[in-house]
Amino acid sequence: MQQRELGRTGRQVSAIGLGTWQLGADWGDVSEDDATAVLAASVDHGVTLFDTADVYGDGRSESIIGRFLAGRPGHDITVATKMGRRLAQEPENYTAENFRSWTDRSRANLGVDTLDLVQLHCPPSAVIEDDATFDALDELVAGGAIAAYGVSVETCAQALAAIARPNVTNVQIILNPFRLKPLDEVLPAAAAAGVSIFARVPLASGLLSGKYTASTSFAENDHRSYNRHGEAFDRGETFSGVDYEVGLEAASRLAAALPDGVSLPAASLAWIAGLSGVTSVIPGARNVRQAQSNADAAKLLDAGSLADFDAAVHEVYDALLREAIHPLW
Ligand SMILES: NC(=O)c1ccc[n+]([C@@H]2O[C@H](COP(=O)([O-])OP(=O)(O)OC[C@H]3O[C@@H](n4cnc5c(N)ncnc54)[C@H](OP(=O)(O)O)[C@@H]3O)[C@@H](O)[C@H]2O)c1
Repeated sequence: MQQRELGRTGRQVSAIGLGTWQLGADWGDVSEDDATAVLAASVDHGVTLFDTADVYGDGRSESIIGRFLAGRPGHDITVATKMGRRLAQEPENYTAENFRSWTDRSRANLGVDTLDLVQLHCPPSAVIEDDATFDALDELVAGGAIAAYGVSVETCAQALAAIARPNVTNVQIILNPFRLKPLDEVLPAAAAAGVSIFARVPLASGLLSGKYTASTSFAENDHRSYNRHGEAFDRGETFSGVDYEVGLEAASRLAAALPDGVSLPAASLAWIAGLSGVTSVIPGARNVRQAQSNADAAKLLDAGSLADFDAAVHEVYDALLREAIHPLW
């Protein structure tokens, strides 16, 4: 597994990490034993970055990670958590006092004195534009509650605003074969500034697994049932904001351009991780098999076999997706 520098921290993280929203809630039921097995399988296959948040299962994801890491003293895993969605996403809630209490809770959940990396969890643009936000985050670093901070964003404009801040370590954004706008300006700006990009929703919530059909159904407590049109949160977080039927067609066209013996999810993950400016791709996994094959997709990074797939990604995006997706995020 390739390891890459996290911003300018000197810390190394794997080119393919693990998203752990699934281990909290909103993706149907995942037992604690299954969640722990997903973490273990990922680490055993070279993953050294977990992405979580204080709201995933209201702390369940963080707590499971904390218990898992307590059993692996001396580990080299970086945990990136998030804060800012335990209250309404109104600018007045992003105060130094709330930052302290949110990070204290995450420190307790994860069982650490210092959080490795805390990302603001898709705050309003006004929060990213406010110097006071970053003064408060700098204070948390100075006080030792957090080692580094970043911003998870919805739009490319927000990403560029966050990248322009001097002490931001990473920006997390949706980037996958159905979401190409970050390639235009965000990746070059991040690379120039030494800011890490974490690519989230890399499989378009599973559409890029290539296994869904028009008749696939999802559990009632799975956001792919209840947030398809943005009923609960930004609709871009569900299927990457792509209409389900269009996504099926796009996935099947991409599948036709795969190298022999390579699966669509593996090609998608390696294609993203191979983009200049991307530090880590953070697919979510609901079981051990997914966790293992996602981590193993990093092996394709050195194979140099994705040129046809890359051409197909751009062709399919221009034909089916650009018009609906590019202007929105
Ligand atoms: N606002 C934010 O900051 C934000 C928002 C969203 C996500 N995130 C982070 O980003 C991570 C990744 O995004 P995501 O989980 O939303 O979407 P994703 O990684 O695009 O999709 C994950 C889903 O894809 C399917 N899958 C995964 N690996 C597979 C494989 N090898 N083969 C077949 N299917 C596979 C699984 O669904 P099924 O098994 O159900 O089919 C899995 O639950 C999250 O876990 C979270 O840490 C952050």
